[in-house]
Amino acid sequence: MNVKYSLVQTPLDVEKILALQAENHRDVVDADTAQREGFTSVRHEPAVLHAMNQAYPSAIATSGDTLAGYCLMMPQPFRARVPLLEPMFALLDRLEWRGAPLAGDPRWFVMGQVCVAQGFRGIGVFDGVYRQLRDAYAPQFNFVITEISQRNARSMRAHRRVGFETLHVYHDASANETWEVVVWDWRAG
Ligand SMILES: CC(C)(COP(=O)(O)OP(=O)(O)OC[C@H]1O[C@@H](n2cnc3c(N)ncnc32)[C@H](O)[C@@H]1OP(=O)(O)O)[C@@H](O)C(=O)NCCC(=O)NCCS
Repeated sequence: MNVKYSLVQTPLDVEKILALQAENHRDVVDADTAQREGFTSVRHEPAVLHAMNQAYPSAIATSGDTLAGYCLMMPQPFRARVPLLEPMFALLDRLEWRGAPLAGDPRWFVMGQVCVAQGFRGIGVFDGVYRQLRDAYAPQFNFVITEISQRNARSMRAHRRVGFETLHVYHDASANETWEVVVWDWRAG
């Protein structure tokens, strides 16, 4: 399969991201697939996702007209516009990474969601979209943070493989999920 990697260029790219995230949402994926292949937890407001991509385009993988995968760049100033993620940002305000507080440090961002379309899993697209994200943003940012449900073992394993390390683990009783906050540090050493 001829898969190409780039940043989001058009509003249509964003519409395709919204469609793929909806297909993979935990409310619609059957339990068996969710356990084997993972699921997404956030559905972005279209206007917010368009605005986020205008400010800082996300990384995408395409095969012809088909979106094969994406990895969302979520800059800190957008935190208030994705309410489901605000508790995570409030937690990040209290955490440190490598001895320095996260709060007040503009040189990190959140990877807001990663997804690989079903026919494209297990062939390197995950690594490809993350490589694209790093190529685009390592000049401006020191590290990227995301959180993964411990139920999503496939995603956890793939994130460790590209270089993410665990910063913090917490249980969200209201959603009955245990989350791992993970960091991929792009600085040498
Ligand atoms: C999670 C996801 C992005 C990973 O992309 P992918 O192309 O499937 O990932 P890869 O095949 O490159 O890597 C998966 C890794 O998990 C392993 N794996 C596969 N199924 C697994 C399972 N059920 N439990 C644990 N590990 C599993 C694979 O062996 C591989 O690890 P390895 O390279 O060490 O062998 C993709 O499956 C997806 O989009 N799922 C639905 C949405 C989602 O879960 N997004 C992430 C939200 S945090």
